[in-house]
Amino acid sequence: NTIDWNAGMAEKAGYKHFMLKEIFEQPQAITNTISGRINPETGEVDLPEINLDREAIESFDRIFLVACGTSWHAALIAKYWIEKFAHIPVEVDIASEFRYRNLLINERVLTVSISQSGETADTLAGIRRAKEMGSKVVTICNVVGSTMTREADGTIYTHAGPEIGVASTKAFISQLAALFLFTLYLAGKKETVSAEKRLELGKALINIAGVVDRELPRLRTDIENLIDDFWDCRDFLFVGRGLSFPIALEGALKLKEISYIHAEGYASGELKHGPIALIDKEMPIVALIPRDEVYQKSLSNVEEIKARKGRLILFGTEGDTHLEKLTDDVIYLPEVHEEMNPILYTIPAQLLSYEIASRRGCDVDQPRNLAKSVTVE
Ligand code: G6P
Repeated sequence: NTIDWNAGMAEKAGYKHFMLKEIFEQPQAITNTISGRINPETGEVDLPEINLDREAIESFDRIFLVACGTSWHAALIAKYWIEKFAHIPVEVDIASEFRYRNLLINERVLTVSISQSGETADTLAGIRRAKEMGSKVVTICNVVGSTMTREADGTIYTHAGPEIGVASTKAFISQLAALFLFTLYLAGKKETVSAEKRLELGKALINIAGVVDRELPRLRTDIENLIDDFWDCRDFLFVGRGLSFPIALEGALKLKEISYIHAEGYASGELKHGPIALIDKEMPIVALIPRDEVYQKSLSNVEEIKARKGRLILFGTEGDTHLEKLTDDVIYLPEVHEEMNPILYTIPAQLLSYEIASRRGCDVDQPRNLAKSVTVE
C-alpha cells in the first residue's frame, strides 16, 4: 500500500499542477480584483490608485495598450470594450514592436501597460519611451511594488495572488476583470453610457465569478472526456470572431506553450485567406461560437469548416442544439452577458490545453524554453 501524497501536492492544495490549481482559483481572482471597486447598486467604479480624474480623461484622444504574450491578448479584448463603451480610439501593441517603432505620442495619449509581473523588459522599455514622449502611463499589474508600478503615474492592481505556473491563467482572467473595470471607469467619467447601461454592465461583471465557479468542475469533466480523441494531434486551429477572436489566440498560445502542439489562432473571417487550405479530416479546429452579435457570421464560418471535413470542437451556448448537428464535440457554456463571454470562454480553452499537456506527460508548470517573467530583451 502506498500513500498517494507528497509535499509537492500539499503545496498545490491537492492539485496535480499549479496550473490546474490556478485555473480553479479564477473565480476568487475575479472577485478579489473587483471587490471594493464597484458599487453593486449603481455600477459606478472607483479606481483611486489610477490617478486620473475626469479632466485628465477628457484630455486623451487616444489610448495605447502595450503588453506581451497572454497580457497582449487581454489588451486585444480591452480594445473592443473601451471603444464600444468609452468611445476612445485604442491601439494595441506588442511591446517589443512598440518600443522601437515611430510612435506618434504626446501628452494627449494615455499609455497603459498590462503585465502580470510588472518586470517584462520590453513592456517596461515601452512605457519608459511613452513617458519620455509626454504620455501619462498607467499599469495594470499583479505584483505589488514591481518596477512598472513604481514608474507608472497610476496603477490598477489585479489581485490574482501569486501565479506559479509559467503559462498565465488566473492573472489573465483578472486582467480582463481589471480592464472591464477600467472601461466602466472611463465610460463613467466621460458619460458615454447611461446609468442603466452602466448598472447592467457592472452587474454582468459582478455575476461572472459565480458562473465560472459553478461551471468549472463540469467543464473539466467534459474536456477530460473530449481529449481522448485529440491529445495526440500534431496541429490545432482556434477560431473566433469579435470578442472571441483574442480568446482563440489565447487558446492557441496556451496549447503550444504547455503541450508543444503546433497551434494557431485566427479570426474566423480570415480563414478564407489562408488557413482554410490546411483543413482536412485530420485537422482539429476549436471554434468559439457564443450566441453573440456576430453569431450568424461565426456559424457560416463553422459550416465552411464542416464542408471541408475539419474535426470541429465547438464551444457554444447552452441550448444551441444546432451545434450538435455539426459535430459530436460540443462544449456548452451558459448564456451570460455577451461582454463577459471572453472570461467564460477562456476557461474551457485553458482546460483543453491543460488536460492535453497533462495526458502527454508534459511539464505543465515549467514548459521548456519558457520563463515566467522575461526580464531580458
Ligand atoms: C512570459 C510568460 C507569459 C506572459 C508574458 C508576459 O512569456 O511566460 O505567460 O504572458 O511573459 O508577462 P507579463 O508578466 O508582462 O504579463
